[in-house]
Amino acid sequence: MKKIFLVLSILVSAIAFSQTGTDSKMHVFVSSLMKKMTLSEKIGQLNLLTPGGDVNTGTVVSRDVEKKIIEGNVGGLFGVTGVDKIKTAQDIAVKQSRLKIPLLFGSDIIHGYKTIFPIPLGLSCSWDMKIIEQTARMAAIEATADGLCWNFSPMVDIARDPRWGRMAEGSGEDPYLGSQVAIAMVNGYQGYDLAKNNTLMACVKHFALYGAAEAGRDYNTTDMSRVRMYNEYLPPYKAAINAGAGSMMSSFNEIDGIPATGNKWLLTDLLRKQWGFRGFVVSDYTSVNEMMAHGMGDLQTVSALSLKAGLDMDMVGEGFLMTLKKSLQEKKVTISEIDQACRRILEAKYKLGLFDDPYRYIDPTRPAKEILTAQNRKEAREIAARSFVLLKNNNQTLPLKKTGVIALIGPLADDQNNMLGTWAVSGDSKLSVSVLNGIKNAAGSQVNILYAKGANISDDTLFAKKVNVFGTRIDIDKRTPAEMLNEALEIANKSDVVVAVVGEASEMSGESASRTDITLPESQKKLIRALVSTGKPVVLVMMSGRPLALVEENTLATSILQVWHAGTEAGNAIADVLFGNYNPSGKLSVTFPRNVGQVPIYYSQKNTGRPSVGDAPKFLSNYLDVPNTPLFPFGYGLSYTSFSYSEIKLNKTSMKMNESITASVTITNTGKYDGEEVVQLYIRDLVGSITRPVKELKGFQKIKLKAGESKQVSFSIDVNDLKFYNSELKFVSEPGDFILFIGTNSNDVKEKGFKLE
Ligand code: NOJ
Repeated sequence: MKKIFLVLSILVSAIAFSQTGTDSKMHVFVSSLMKKMTLSEKIGQLNLLTPGGDVNTGTVVSRDVEKKIIEGNVGGLFGVTGVDKIKTAQDIAVKQSRLKIPLLFGSDIIHGYKTIFPIPLGLSCSWDMKIIEQTARMAAIEATADGLCWNFSPMVDIARDPRWGRMAEGSGEDPYLGSQVAIAMVNGYQGYDLAKNNTLMACVKHFALYGAAEAGRDYNTTDMSRVRMYNEYLPPYKAAINAGAGSMMSSFNEIDGIPATGNKWLLTDLLRKQWGFRGFVVSDYTSVNEMMAHGMGDLQTVSALSLKAGLDMDMVGEGFLMTLKKSLQEKKVTISEIDQACRRILEAKYKLGLFDDPYRYIDPTRPAKEILTAQNRKEAREIAARSFVLLKNNNQTLPLKKTGVIALIGPLADDQNNMLGTWAVSGDSKLSVSVLNGIKNAAGSQVNILYAKGANISDDTLFAKKVNVFGTRIDIDKRTPAEMLNEALEIANKSDVVVAVVGEASEMSGESASRTDITLPESQKKLIRALVSTGKPVVLVMMSGRPLALVEENTLATSILQVWHAGTEAGNAIADVLFGNYNPSGKLSVTFPRNVGQVPIYYSQKNTGRPSVGDAPKFLSNYLDVPNTPLFPFGYGLSYTSFSYSEIKLNKTSMKMNESITASVTITNTGKYDGEEVVQLYIRDLVGSITRPVKELKGFQKIKLKAGESKQVSFSIDVNDLKFYNSELKFVSEPGDFILFIGTNSNDVKEKGFKLE
C-alpha cells in the first residue's frame, strides 16, 4: 500500500512539475512575443471575426477580413471550414501579417461535425458518459481533420423551461447530470493533450444562466438568487472548468442587472478568483455591442466595461478593435488589462501548438480518411438508439414484429431535412437516413411497408416561413390537408400497426426558436386523432428538441418513443429500436410538463410551506385545473423488459463527517428481454439552514441485465454528497436527518433514512 502511495505521489509531482515547466516556457514565449507587439497588434488579437457564408447567428457579418488579418487586427475566425479555406486564411496571417501570429479557427460543433449525433438534450438522456465522451472525441477528430482547433461547445446551461428553444442544445434540468455531461464533453474534445492535431479546445457556454431566460424567450433577462445560482445553475460550468476547459463564452443575458459580457463579478470574481479559471473568455456574437441596447452606454463605454470585467475576446462586434485605443488614451482602460487579455489568447494558441506549427490542423489527406467514415456512422447509429426514451408502450406493441403490414405515416416519416436537428451547421442533411429508409433497411422481406405523409408539420405558412430560415424544414404540401389525411387513413386501415412519425421540425427548437405553445401543431394533432379512430394500434415516434406537452397524445397512442432529433443515422437507429434490435434504455434528463402553465417544472423543487397533497384542496400549493405532477418525471423511461428493485440496504444508518455510507439495492430484470437500466440515487436533506429541495440526484449507474438476471448496485455516500451552498455561499454540510432514495426515475423510488452526525 505504502509503495503504491509513493509511486503515485512521485507521478503526481512529475505531472505537476512538467505542467509548471510548460507554463513557464509558455510564459517566456508569450512575454517575448508581446514585447514585439504594438498596441494595435495586441488589440487585434482580441478580435474574433466571421467572414459569413455559413451560418450567422446575428445580423452583423465581418467585412474586409483579409485586410484586417494582414494588419494584425484579427485573433481568430469562425464560420470558415475546410482545410483549403482555413489554409488560405492561415497563410494570410502567417505570411502577410507583420508578426506572423497564427489565427484560431473556431466553430459550433455542437453534436458532431459531419457525422451528426443526437441533439445534446437527447444525448444526455443516454445517461451514458462513455458514449457522450465518445461523440465529442469523434467530433474533435472530424473537425480537426477539416482544419478547426476550437469549438464553441459544450453548452452546459441548465434549462427548466421548455419554451426556451435552446434547451435542445444542453443536458436538461439537473446540475449533477449536467456536470457529468460537461466533464465528458470537455474530455472528449480536448483529449488529454491539447497540442495534438486531433484535439479541439472546448469553449464552455453560455456563462452564465442563459437557460433561465424569463418566460423562455431567447436572449431575455434572467434574475435569480445567489443561493439558487450556486446550488443549481453554476455547477456544470464549474465542472467543465475543473475538467480543464480552455475557454468560456459569456452569455447574452444580464445577471444582477449587468450583462454577463460586462459583468466583473461573474468574469473575474467568480470565474477567476473563486474558481481559478486560467483560459480565455470570448463574448457571444456581438454581445459586447448589444450592451448598448441593454442600456449600458455607447460602444466605447461597453467595450471598456467588458475588458475591465474580464472579457478577453470580442466576437464579431469589433467594439474592442474600434474603441480600446481611445479608451486607453482617455485612461478608461489600462494597458495591463489589454495585455492580460492578449496574453490569454496567445496562451491558447500556444497550448494548441499553433506557434510550433500553424498548419498543425491542416492536412489535406485527413478529411477523406477521418470524416463520415463507415465506422463513425455505425457508432452514430448505436449512440442514437441509446438516446431514445420509451414514454409509453401498452400491450407491448413495441417492439414491432417483422411480419405483416406497417403503415408508416407522418410529416417526419420520409424526411431528411429534419433528422440532424438544430445546430448541425457542418452536417449535410442529404446524407441523413430518413425513418422510411431506416425501416425499409431493417424490416426484412416479411413486412409490407405502406407510406403516407398524412399531414404537414404545420399548416401555418407564417410559422413555416420563420422556421425555414436555413432552408426548408416545414414543407407545406401542395395537396390539401384533407387529401393527405385520406391517403393516410386508407393505408392505416390496411395495416396491422400504424407508426406515426410526428413532432417538431429541427428549427422549431434551438437558438431563437422559443415557443409559447409546446403542444404539437394542430395539423398533426388532427392526424393522430384520425389514425387512432381507425382502431389500429398507433405508435408515435416523437421528434422534438424540447419536452412537448403530450397529454392528449399520451391518452390516444398505444406507444410513444421520444427520439429527439437523432442525427445522420436517425432512421436506422429508430428502426433498430422499433424492431427491438436495441432495447431502449434512455431516461429523461428533463421533466415533461402536462401543459405550458406548469412551466418551469423540475423534480428538485422546494417543498413550500403548503405542499400539495394530491387533489387540489384549498389553500395548498396547487392548481385548480391540473395536478402538480408532470406528465413524465425526470429520470423516466421504459424498456421492453421490466425491472424490479429490492428494498435499500444501508451498511449503517448514521455517519460522521469523515465517514461514508454504502447503500445497496438488487435490481432484477423481470421481463423477457435483455435490457439496460439507469439506477438513480437521490438524497433529501430534511432540515437545513436554508430550505432544501425535495430530492437531488447524487449518483447513477447504467447497468445491463439479461432477462431474469439480478445485480446488486451500491452507491457510497460521503459528506461531499450532502454539501450545499448556504446563505453565506459557503459550501457546507449540516448534521441532521437525510432520506436516500434509489429508483428507476425521480418519482418511482425506494427510500431509507440516515443521519449525519
Ligand atoms: C450565438 C450563439 O449564442 C452561440 O452559442 C454561438 O456559439 C455563436 N452564436 C457563434 O455561432
